Amino acid sequence: MATNPDNWTPGSWQQKVVLQQPTYPDKEQLQDALQKLAKLPPLVTSWEIESLKSQLAAASRGEAFLLQAGDCSESLDDCDNDSIVRNLKVLMQMSFVLIYGGMKKVVRVGRVAGQYAKPRSSDTETRDGVTLEVYRGDIVNRSGFTESDRKPDPELLLRGYERAALTLNFIRSLCGGGFADLHHPENWSLDFVGDSDLSTKYQKMVSSITDALQFMEVVRGAEFRNSGSVDVFTSHEGLHLSYEQAQTRRVPRREGWYNMSTHFPWIGYRTRDTNGAHVEYFRGIDNPIGIKVGPKFEPEELVALIRTLNPANEAGKVTLIHRYGVDEVVERLPVILDAIQESGVGVLHTCDPMHGNTFSTNAGIKTRSFDRIIEEIQQQFRIHRQQGTILGGIHLEMTGDNVTECIGGQGQIGEPDLVKAYKSAVDPRLNYDQAMEVAFLIADQLKSDQNVVT
Ligand code: PEP
Ligand code: CO
Repeated sequence: MATNPDNWTPGSWQQKVVLQQPTYPDKEQLQDALQKLAKLPPLVTSWEIESLKSQLAAASRGEAFLLQAGDCSESLDDCDNDSIVRNLKVLMQMSFVLIYGGMKKVVRVGRVAGQYAKPRSSDTETRDGVTLEVYRGDIVNRSGFTESDRKPDPELLLRGYERAALTLNFIRSLCGGGFADLHHPENWSLDFVGDSDLSTKYQKMVSSITDALQFMEVVRGAEFRNSGSVDVFTSHEGLHLSYEQAQTRRVPRREGWYNMSTHFPWIGYRTRDTNGAHVEYFRGIDNPIGIKVGPKFEPEELVALIRTLNPANEAGKVTLIHRYGVDEVVERLPVILDAIQESGVGVLHTCDPMHGNTFSTNAGIKTRSFDRIIEEIQQQFRIHRQQGTILGGIHLEMTGDNVTECIGGQGQIGEPDLVKAYKSAVDPRLNYDQAMEVAFLIADQLKSDQNVVT
């Protein structure tokens, strides 16, 4: 359904106050890069975007579950075979754990193929008395600490678009081919995973799925052929508005406008102002939209924002990504859920247990405690049960790489271990074991929800 709101154009956000944008020293070079970007082909199609929207609507009714996960910030240098495959394998493995636990369809969405622009709490960074422009993600500048690294470079917009296209191309080929074939679960195994309770639990689950599949095929007398193909959608924070605008298009035989750089853009917590430029941009596009909701979001403000973004109350259009942190969730989530219920606006509720639970160690390393992440997930499930609402998805920062960025989990990563394999340039991610532990926990929650219903 096209929204086509009054007085909106893909560039009308430029009349509003815009936060979190780089200042490019060379405006002509910027315009040149944006013109090139606007001519390049779309990365996704309106059919896929509409299909995702209807799957998110199903999740809001409790008929499916959204698994949205990936890097905090993708890096242009990590656009390689191993990183893409590893992250996809974890996403696949987690989704099978969730399907098995919840006995419902899992909608897989990567924070991938465009998650290159990052909101920052300060415009500058100071090290040893030297102050430079802050690193804003690989599509804007570089993470090294020199003046030339930190200078916003418009060419990076094109490099980001190209890396997104390469990443998506590889994901599509893998998913459209034999990679996701349930007859060959060995395709998703990761070589560094040794024998642990978790991997035994996972292997048992896989054997039981393949046995069931074989049994059904014998009964049917034919193979399940479509099990080889699987959907993976893309998402990123719609932060760099010039980049988003350049890929915002009309399509034949549909009304309205689509952001063709991703299926599912979201509004970050720092750019949520109803009168600000980001909301102005988002109110005109027809993609499903995520909104990060944190402790400072007032219920009336959120309801007004949802009405601005989705005046027709279209199902699947708005996903709330709740991220309060363990210390605030019990107080904040119920008030928000009450306001949403009273207002009658339809949304999908999901849980981001990462962004409200970040802290710095005494040594100044940004990390998250696995126990607190688990606790927020459990709290959010509990609060939804109490309120009679549905928690229909999870939003995680994780990687298939064997990193040590979050403390805790079965591998018992401690503060001193953080330096061993800390690779994120921005937020700390769950590693493989931690991500799988989260998947099994959610599967248990979904299983117990099923028992409540039946
Ligand atoms: C993020 O998802 O990486 C992020 C910055 O989140 P938030 O806007 O919720 O802080
Ligand atoms: Co993050």
